[in-house]
Amino acid sequence: MIGGGIVGLSIGWRLAAAGCAVDVFERAKAGQAASRAAAGMLAAGVEAEPGEQPLLPLCLESQRLWPDFAAELEAASGLEVGLRREGTMVVALTRDDLNILRSNYEFQRKLGLPLEWLTGAQAKEREPFLNPRVAAAVYSPNDGQVDNRKACGALVVALAKAGGRLHEGVEVTGVEVTNGRVAGVVLGDGLHQADVVVLAAGAWSRQMAGLPPASLPPVRPVKGQMLSVSMDPADPLLRHVVWGPKCYLVPRADGTLIVGATTEEKGFDASLTAGGVLALLEAAWRTLPGIEERPITEMWTGFRPGSRDDAPILGPALGVDGLVLATGHHRNGILLAPITADAIAGYVLAGQVDPRIAGFGADRFAPREAAA
Ligand code: GLY
Repeated sequence: MIGGGIVGLSIGWRLAAAGCAVDVFERAKAGQAASRAAAGMLAAGVEAEPGEQPLLPLCLESQRLWPDFAAELEAASGLEVGLRREGTMVVALTRDDLNILRSNYEFQRKLGLPLEWLTGAQAKEREPFLNPRVAAAVYSPNDGQVDNRKACGALVVALAKAGGRLHEGVEVTGVEVTNGRVAGVVLGDGLHQADVVVLAAGAWSRQMAGLPPASLPPVRPVKGQMLSVSMDPADPLLRHVVWGPKCYLVPRADGTLIVGATTEEKGFDASLTAGGVLALLEAAWRTLPGIEERPITEMWTGFRPGSRDDAPILGPALGVDGLVLATGHHRNGILLAPITADAIAGYVLAGQVDPRIAGFGADRFAPREAAA
Protein backbone atom coordinates (compact mmCIF):
# COMPACT_ATOMS: atom_id res chain seq x y z
CA MET A 1 0.00 0.00 0.00
CA ILE A 2 1.47 3.36 -1.00
CA GLY A 3 0.00 6.07 1.22
CA GLY A 4 -1.07 6.11 4.85
CA GLY A 5 -4.04 8.46 4.60
CA ILE A 6 -7.58 7.46 5.44
CA VAL A 7 -7.91 5.63 2.10
CA GLY A 8 -4.71 3.60 2.39
CA LEU A 9 -5.28 2.84 6.08
CA SER A 10 -8.88 1.73 5.50
CA ILE A 11 -7.99 -0.58 2.63
CA GLY A 12 -5.00 -1.90 4.57
CA TRP A 13 -7.18 -2.58 7.60
CA ARG A 14 -9.76 -4.47 5.54
CA LEU A 15 -7.09 -6.56 3.80
CA ALA A 16 -5.18 -7.33 6.98
CA ALA A 17 -8.43 -8.34 8.69
CA ALA A 18 -9.06 -10.70 5.75
CA GLY A 19 -5.72 -12.40 6.40
CA CYS A 20 -3.47 -10.69 3.83
CA ALA A 21 0.11 -9.66 4.57
CA VAL A 22 -0.19 -5.87 4.38
CA ASP A 23 2.54 -3.22 4.42
CA VAL A 24 1.43 0.40 4.35
CA PHE A 25 4.22 2.81 3.38
CA GLU A 26 3.79 6.42 4.45
CA ARG A 27 6.57 8.88 3.79
CA ALA A 28 5.66 11.08 6.77
CA LYS A 29 3.16 10.28 9.57
CA ALA A 30 -0.02 8.37 8.83
CA GLY A 31 -3.16 10.46 8.42
CA GLN A 32 -1.33 13.78 8.55
CA ALA A 33 -1.87 15.12 5.00
CA ALA A 34 -5.31 15.58 3.36
CA SER A 35 -6.87 13.20 5.89
CA ARG A 36 -5.90 15.57 8.69
CA ALA A 37 -6.71 18.73 6.76
CA ALA A 38 -10.28 17.61 5.99
CA ALA A 39 -13.29 18.69 8.02
CA GLY A 40 -14.89 15.23 8.03
CA MET A 41 -18.23 16.24 6.56
CA LEU A 42 -20.37 13.32 5.43
CA ALA A 43 -22.47 15.48 3.18
CA ALA A 44 -23.57 13.48 0.15
CA GLY A 45 -26.84 15.41 0.12
CA VAL A 46 -25.84 19.06 0.28
CA GLU A 47 -22.55 18.61 -1.59
CA ALA A 48 -24.37 17.12 -4.63
CA GLU A 49 -23.58 19.59 -7.42
CA PRO A 50 -24.90 19.87 -10.98
CA GLY A 51 -22.62 17.84 -13.25
CA GLU A 52 -21.70 15.42 -10.48
CA GLN A 53 -24.81 13.19 -10.74
CA PRO A 54 -22.76 10.01 -11.53
CA LEU A 55 -20.90 10.47 -8.24
CA LEU A 56 -24.02 10.74 -6.10
CA PRO A 57 -24.88 6.98 -5.81
CA LEU A 58 -21.29 6.27 -4.71
CA CYS A 59 -21.40 9.06 -2.11
CA LEU A 60 -24.82 7.97 -0.83
CA GLU A 61 -23.72 4.35 -0.58
CA SER A 62 -20.59 5.28 1.36
CA GLN A 63 -22.62 7.57 3.62
CA ARG A 64 -24.94 4.60 4.28
CA LEU A 65 -21.89 2.47 5.19
CA TRP A 66 -20.36 5.02 7.60
CA PRO A 67 -22.31 4.12 10.79
CA ASP A 68 -21.34 0.43 10.57
CA PHE A 69 -17.81 1.29 9.44
CA ALA A 70 -17.44 3.64 12.43
CA ALA A 71 -18.88 1.10 14.88
CA GLU A 72 -16.60 -1.65 13.55
CA LEU A 73 -13.58 0.66 13.66
CA GLU A 74 -14.35 1.76 17.21
CA ALA A 75 -14.74 -1.86 18.30
CA ALA A 76 -11.53 -2.92 16.54
CA SER A 77 -9.43 -0.03 17.85
CA GLY A 78 -11.04 0.77 21.19
CA LEU A 79 -11.08 4.44 20.10
CA GLU A 80 -14.06 6.60 19.29
CA VAL A 81 -14.25 8.44 15.96
CA GLY A 82 -16.80 11.18 16.64
CA LEU A 83 -19.51 10.21 14.16
CA ARG A 84 -22.39 12.70 14.42
CA ARG A 85 -25.65 12.39 12.56
CA GLU A 86 -27.71 15.42 13.55
CA GLY A 87 -28.00 16.64 9.95
CA THR A 88 -26.54 19.54 8.06
CA MET A 89 -27.90 22.98 7.16
CA VAL A 90 -27.19 25.27 4.22
CA VAL A 91 -28.09 28.88 4.96
CA ALA A 92 -28.82 31.91 2.76
CA LEU A 93 -28.26 35.48 3.96
CA THR A 94 -28.93 37.69 0.94
CA ARG A 95 -31.41 37.64 -1.95
CA ASP A 96 -28.65 36.27 -4.22
CA ASP A 97 -27.86 33.49 -1.73
CA LEU A 98 -31.57 32.71 -1.58
CA ASN A 99 -31.80 32.28 -5.34
CA ILE A 100 -28.79 29.96 -5.35
CA LEU A 101 -30.16 28.01 -2.37
CA ARG A 102 -33.54 27.54 -4.02
CA SER A 103 -32.03 26.44 -7.32
CA ASN A 104 -29.69 23.92 -5.59
CA TYR A 105 -32.60 22.71 -3.43
CA GLU A 106 -34.76 22.07 -6.49
CA PHE A 107 -31.89 20.30 -8.26
CA GLN A 108 -31.11 18.14 -5.22
CA ARG A 109 -34.79 17.34 -4.55
CA LYS A 110 -35.13 16.14 -8.17
CA LEU A 111 -32.28 13.72 -7.43
CA GLY A 112 -34.48 12.25 -4.69
CA LEU A 113 -32.55 13.68 -1.75
CA PRO A 114 -34.66 14.07 1.41
CA LEU A 115 -34.11 17.77 2.05
CA GLU A 116 -36.29 20.13 4.05
CA TRP A 117 -36.81 23.85 3.30
CA LEU A 118 -36.66 26.03 6.43
CA THR A 119 -37.71 29.65 6.81
CA GLY A 120 -35.22 32.00 8.44
CA ALA A 121 -37.13 31.72 11.73
CA GLN A 122 -37.08 27.92 11.58
CA ALA A 123 -33.35 27.96 10.85
CA LYS A 124 -32.72 30.20 13.88
CA GLU A 125 -34.82 27.93 16.09
CA ARG A 126 -32.36 25.14 15.28
CA GLU A 127 -29.24 27.34 15.36
CA PRO A 128 -29.93 30.48 17.45
CA PHE A 129 -26.50 32.07 16.90
CA LEU A 130 -26.82 32.28 13.11
CA ASN A 131 -26.81 35.78 11.61
CA PRO A 132 -30.25 37.24 12.52
CA ARG A 133 -30.67 38.18 8.83
CA VAL A 134 -30.69 34.51 7.75
CA ALA A 135 -33.30 34.40 4.99
CA ALA A 136 -33.85 30.65 4.64
CA ALA A 137 -32.05 27.35 4.98
CA VAL A 138 -32.11 23.81 3.69
CA TYR A 139 -31.85 20.99 6.21
CA SER A 140 -30.38 17.66 5.14
CA PRO A 141 -31.19 15.10 7.85
CA ASN A 142 -28.91 12.34 6.55
CA ASP A 143 -25.74 14.41 6.34
CA GLY A 144 -23.38 14.60 9.29
CA GLN A 145 -19.73 14.42 10.17
CA VAL A 146 -16.97 12.26 11.54
CA ASP A 147 -13.83 13.44 13.29
CA ASN A 148 -11.38 12.57 10.52
CA ARG A 149 -8.32 12.98 12.75
CA LYS A 150 -9.75 10.56 15.31
CA ALA A 151 -10.81 8.15 12.55
CA CYS A 152 -7.24 8.05 11.21
CA GLY A 153 -5.87 7.44 14.71
CA ALA A 154 -8.33 4.58 15.13
CA LEU A 155 -7.39 3.12 11.75
CA VAL A 156 -3.70 3.07 12.67
CA VAL A 157 -4.56 1.02 15.77
CA ALA A 158 -7.07 -1.24 13.96
CA LEU A 159 -4.58 -1.91 11.15
CA ALA A 160 -1.91 -2.95 13.66
CA LYS A 161 -4.34 -5.12 15.64
CA ALA A 162 -5.34 -6.89 12.42
CA GLY A 163 -1.67 -7.69 11.75
CA GLY A 164 -0.99 -4.99 9.14
CA ARG A 165 2.38 -3.21 9.23
CA LEU A 166 2.56 0.56 8.96
CA HIS A 167 5.94 2.00 7.92
CA GLU A 168 6.00 5.71 8.73
CA GLY A 169 8.77 7.93 7.43
CA VAL A 170 9.41 5.48 4.57
CA GLU A 171 9.12 6.94 1.10
CA VAL A 172 8.21 4.78 -1.87
CA THR A 173 10.35 6.19 -4.67
CA GLY A 174 8.92 4.01 -7.42
CA VAL A 175 7.03 0.90 -8.44
CA GLU A 176 9.02 -1.94 -9.96
CA VAL A 177 7.35 -3.51 -12.98
CA THR A 178 8.58 -6.74 -14.56
CA ASN A 179 7.02 -8.05 -17.78
CA GLY A 180 3.97 -5.83 -17.35
CA ARG A 181 3.33 -6.91 -13.76
CA VAL A 182 4.17 -5.25 -10.45
CA ALA A 183 7.13 -6.80 -8.66
CA GLY A 184 6.94 -4.52 -5.63
CA VAL A 185 7.75 -1.03 -4.42
CA VAL A 186 11.15 0.65 -4.42
CA LEU A 187 12.29 1.98 -1.05
CA GLY A 188 15.53 3.70 -0.06
CA ASP A 189 17.04 0.35 0.88
CA GLY A 190 15.85 -1.62 -2.16
CA LEU A 191 12.86 -3.50 -3.48
CA HIS A 192 10.01 -4.55 -1.21
CA GLN A 193 8.32 -7.36 -3.12
CA ALA A 194 4.54 -7.47 -3.41
CA ASP A 195 1.92 -9.35 -5.45
CA VAL A 196 -0.33 -6.31 -5.47
CA VAL A 197 0.48 -2.62 -5.06
CA VAL A 198 -2.32 -0.23 -4.16
CA LEU A 199 -1.56 3.38 -5.04
CA ALA A 200 -3.38 5.54 -2.49
CA ALA A 201 -1.05 8.52 -2.30
CA GLY A 202 -3.73 11.20 -2.68
CA ALA A 203 -2.60 14.33 -4.52
CA TRP A 204 0.90 12.80 -4.89
CA SER A 205 -0.33 9.68 -6.72
CA ARG A 206 0.87 10.89 -10.11
CA GLN A 207 4.45 11.28 -8.94
CA MET A 208 5.44 7.62 -8.98
CA ALA A 209 8.57 6.59 -10.85
CA GLY A 210 8.79 3.31 -12.73
CA LEU A 211 5.27 3.33 -14.15
CA PRO A 212 4.34 3.93 -17.77
CA PRO A 213 2.57 7.30 -18.19
CA ALA A 214 -0.72 5.59 -19.13
CA SER A 215 -0.79 3.81 -15.75
CA LEU A 216 -0.45 6.97 -13.70
CA PRO A 217 -3.73 8.38 -12.38
CA PRO A 218 -4.48 11.92 -13.63
CA VAL A 219 -4.57 13.52 -10.20
CA ARG A 220 -3.54 17.04 -9.21
CA PRO A 221 -3.46 18.94 -5.91
CA VAL A 222 -6.39 21.27 -5.22
CA LYS A 223 -5.34 23.47 -2.32
CA GLY A 224 -7.63 24.29 0.57
CA GLN A 225 -6.92 26.74 3.41
CA MET A 226 -8.78 26.22 6.67
CA LEU A 227 -8.80 27.35 10.27
CA SER A 228 -10.50 26.61 13.55
CA VAL A 229 -11.73 28.60 16.52
CA SER A 230 -12.65 27.32 19.95
CA MET A 231 -16.19 27.50 21.32
CA ASP A 232 -17.43 26.73 24.81
CA PRO A 233 -18.25 23.00 24.48
CA ALA A 234 -20.98 23.37 27.12
CA ASP A 235 -22.65 26.18 25.17
CA PRO A 236 -21.47 25.91 21.56
CA LEU A 237 -22.26 28.54 18.95
CA LEU A 238 -23.30 25.78 16.57
CA ARG A 239 -24.56 22.19 16.81
CA HIS A 240 -25.00 21.21 13.16
CA VAL A 241 -22.59 21.36 10.27
CA VAL A 242 -23.61 24.61 8.54
CA TRP A 243 -22.80 25.75 5.02
CA GLY A 244 -22.90 29.50 4.75
CA PRO A 245 -22.22 31.55 1.65
CA LYS A 246 -18.54 30.92 0.78
CA CYS A 247 -17.70 28.78 3.83
CA TYR A 248 -18.66 25.77 5.85
CA LEU A 249 -18.61 25.47 9.63
CA VAL A 250 -18.10 22.15 11.40
CA PRO A 251 -18.58 22.01 15.18
CA ARG A 252 -16.78 19.24 17.07
CA ALA A 253 -17.91 17.88 20.43
CA ASP A 254 -14.81 19.30 22.17
CA GLY A 255 -15.78 22.87 21.19
CA THR A 256 -13.55 23.15 18.11
CA LEU A 257 -15.30 24.93 15.24
CA ILE A 258 -13.67 24.22 11.87
CA VAL A 259 -14.03 26.86 9.15
CA GLY A 260 -13.36 25.79 5.56
CA ALA A 261 -12.26 26.06 2.90
CA THR A 262 -10.67 27.81 -0.04
CA THR A 263 -10.40 25.97 -3.37
CA GLU A 264 -7.23 26.93 -5.22
CA GLU A 265 -5.20 25.67 -8.16
CA LYS A 266 -1.74 26.47 -6.78
CA GLY A 267 0.07 23.17 -7.16
CA PHE A 268 1.74 22.08 -3.94
CA ASP A 269 2.07 25.63 -2.56
CA ALA A 270 1.19 25.05 1.10
CA SER A 271 1.25 28.69 2.22
CA LEU A 272 -1.52 30.26 4.23
CA THR A 273 -2.33 33.58 2.64
CA ALA A 274 -3.80 36.73 4.13
CA GLY A 275 -6.44 36.73 1.40
CA GLY A 276 -7.42 33.12 2.01
CA VAL A 277 -7.72 33.52 5.77
CA LEU A 278 -9.50 36.87 5.39
CA ALA A 279 -12.07 35.34 3.02
CA LEU A 280 -12.75 32.43 5.38
CA LEU A 281 -13.05 34.64 8.46
CA GLU A 282 -15.29 37.16 6.71
CA ALA A 283 -17.61 34.44 5.38
CA ALA A 284 -17.70 32.66 8.74
CA TRP A 285 -18.33 35.92 10.62
CA ARG A 286 -21.22 36.84 8.29
CA THR A 287 -22.81 33.45 8.87
CA LEU A 288 -22.10 33.18 12.59
CA PRO A 289 -21.22 36.64 14.01
CA GLY A 290 -20.38 35.20 17.45
CA ILE A 291 -17.10 33.78 16.19
CA GLU A 292 -15.72 37.33 16.48
CA GLU A 293 -14.95 36.77 20.15
CA ARG A 294 -13.57 33.27 19.81
CA PRO A 295 -9.84 32.47 19.87
CA ILE A 296 -8.31 31.09 16.70
CA THR A 297 -6.78 27.72 17.55
CA GLU A 298 -5.25 26.51 14.30
CA MET A 299 -4.78 27.42 10.64
CA TRP A 300 -3.68 24.94 7.99
CA THR A 301 -3.67 23.98 4.34
CA GLY A 302 -4.28 20.68 2.58
CA PHE A 303 -4.28 19.24 -0.91
CA ARG A 304 -7.39 17.54 -2.23
CA PRO A 305 -6.51 14.91 -4.82
CA GLY A 306 -8.51 16.27 -7.75
CA SER A 307 -9.17 14.19 -10.83
CA ARG A 308 -10.36 15.48 -14.22
CA ASP A 309 -14.02 14.88 -13.40
CA ASP A 310 -13.73 15.37 -9.61
CA ALA A 311 -14.62 11.71 -9.04
CA PRO A 312 -12.27 9.10 -7.55
CA ILE A 313 -10.17 6.67 -9.59
CA LEU A 314 -10.79 3.20 -8.24
CA GLY A 315 -9.73 -0.23 -9.46
CA PRO A 316 -7.04 -1.74 -11.69
CA ALA A 317 -4.53 0.61 -13.31
CA LEU A 318 -4.18 0.56 -17.07
CA GLY A 319 -1.27 -1.44 -18.47
CA VAL A 320 0.30 -2.87 -15.29
CA ASP A 321 -1.09 -6.06 -13.76
CA GLY A 322 -1.27 -6.03 -10.00
CA LEU A 323 -1.35 -2.23 -9.70
CA VAL A 324 -4.57 -0.95 -8.15
CA LEU A 325 -5.62 2.70 -7.87
CA ALA A 326 -7.49 4.25 -4.97
CA THR A 327 -7.03 7.97 -5.39
CA GLY A 328 -8.58 11.15 -6.82
CA HIS A 329 -11.20 11.48 -4.08
CA HIS A 330 -11.10 15.28 -4.34
CA ARG A 331 -13.66 16.71 -1.84
CA ASN A 332 -14.92 13.32 -0.72
CA GLY A 333 -12.02 11.33 0.72
CA ILE A 334 -13.47 10.96 4.19
CA LEU A 335 -17.01 10.31 2.95
CA LEU A 336 -15.82 7.70 0.43
CA ALA A 337 -13.40 5.83 2.71
CA PRO A 338 -15.80 2.96 3.61
CA ILE A 339 -16.90 2.17 0.05
CA THR A 340 -13.32 2.56 -1.22
CA ALA A 341 -12.03 0.17 1.44
CA ASP A 342 -14.70 -2.46 0.76
CA ALA A 343 -14.50 -2.28 -3.01
CA ILE A 344 -10.71 -2.14 -3.32
CA ALA A 345 -10.13 -4.85 -0.71
CA GLY A 346 -12.79 -6.93 -2.50
CA TYR A 347 -11.00 -6.41 -5.82
CA VAL A 348 -7.62 -7.39 -4.37
CA LEU A 349 -9.09 -10.52 -2.75
CA ALA A 350 -11.39 -11.74 -5.54
CA GLY A 351 -10.19 -10.00 -8.70
CA GLN A 352 -13.68 -8.70 -9.48
CA VAL A 353 -14.54 -5.03 -9.84
CA ASP A 354 -17.39 -4.22 -7.45
CA PRO A 355 -20.33 -2.94 -9.56
CA ARG A 356 -20.62 0.05 -7.21
CA ILE A 357 -17.23 1.40 -8.44
CA ALA A 358 -17.52 0.18 -12.04
CA GLY A 359 -17.97 3.70 -13.44
CA PHE A 360 -14.92 5.05 -11.60
CA GLY A 361 -12.08 3.11 -13.24
CA ALA A 362 -8.98 4.63 -14.83
CA ASP A 363 -10.26 3.51 -18.24
CA ARG A 364 -12.62 6.51 -18.38
CA PHE A 365 -9.61 8.78 -18.90
CA ALA A 366 -7.86 6.59 -21.49
CA PRO A 367 -7.55 7.84 -25.05
CA ARG A 368 -10.37 6.19 -27.04
CA GLU A 369 -8.09 3.95 -29.16
CA ALA A 370 -6.22 2.74 -26.03
CA ALA A 371 -9.51 1.97 -24.25
CA ALA A 372 -10.87 -0.02 -27.21
N1 GLY B 1 -15.40 18.58 1.28
C1 GLY B 1 -14.99 19.84 1.67
C2 GLY B 1 -13.86 20.42 0.96
O1 GLY B 1 -13.31 19.81 0.06
O2 GLY B 1 -13.46 21.51 1.28
